[in-house]
Amino acid sequence: MNILSKFFTLFVIFTVFLLVACKHEAAPPIIDENTVPSGICFEDEILPLIQSNCAKSGCHTSGDEDPDLSNYNSIKMLVRAGDPLNSKLYKYAIGSEMPPPPNSALNLEQVTLIYGWIKQGALNNSCSCDTNIYTFSEAVNPIIKRNCLGCHGANSNVPLASYQNIFDNADLILADITYQNNPMPKPPAAKLSDCKIRQIEKWIQAGKLNN
Ligand code: HEC
Repeated sequence: MNILSKFFTLFVIFTVFLLVACKHEAAPPIIDENTVPSGICFEDEILPLIQSNCAKSGCHTSGDEDPDLSNYNSIKMLVRAGDPLNSKLYKYAIGSEMPPPPNSALNLEQVTLIYGWIKQGALNNSCSCDTNIYTFSEAVNPIIKRNCLGCHGANSNVPLASYQNIFDNADLILADITYQNNPMPKPPAAKLSDCKIRQIEKWIQAGKLNN
């Protein structure tokens, strides 16, 4: 190969690379099947995730904007059970358009949950809840993460993104989730189950430990 054709080849490779790179700014995540949790529950994991990130007032709540993402039946219409890659819900979750700024995009853990739930049959199921489990890591943090973080991320007005945040706001959180103060999670999202409220209450009574 003479030097000119070498340059030409390099030029072609570079151009093709640029074209591909521009078309796919953010490559869709490739889900590692080994990271998908088993037995993902719609009511406890998927619905709160969707409600706190997508079905806020003015966005995707019934009667508001299309598609409605406020309940199982309407969410199910965006899903092909068993086939996440061909489900609209999953495509939204990995796409760059939703949720629009200033909301942050879903992270890999959240995308993986949606992927897994669809893969596992997109059932309308709920996880068991046990009031004897009330540690920060097993009960409190997962509840806050799923139900609150979509609106209370690290950069929000009332961040609930760390142990310290949750520790500092614990009494207010309890007053809000029991609807004695400001109802939270913010309606139209449903009130937390009595079991989950009790778990948080017991954690507070036991000294709000980072356990
Ligand atoms: C859809 C968005 C959204 C979700 C989900 C949400 N919040 Fe809020 N939260 C807000 C907004 C907005 C405010 C500011 C006050 C207001 O407008 O009501 C707020 C305020 C608060 C406050 C401080 C103000 C006060 O006096 O109550 C606490 C504490 C709180 N939320 C806790 C929670 C907890 C705990 C959860 C989850 C169980 C949760 N929130 C879920 C939107 C949300």
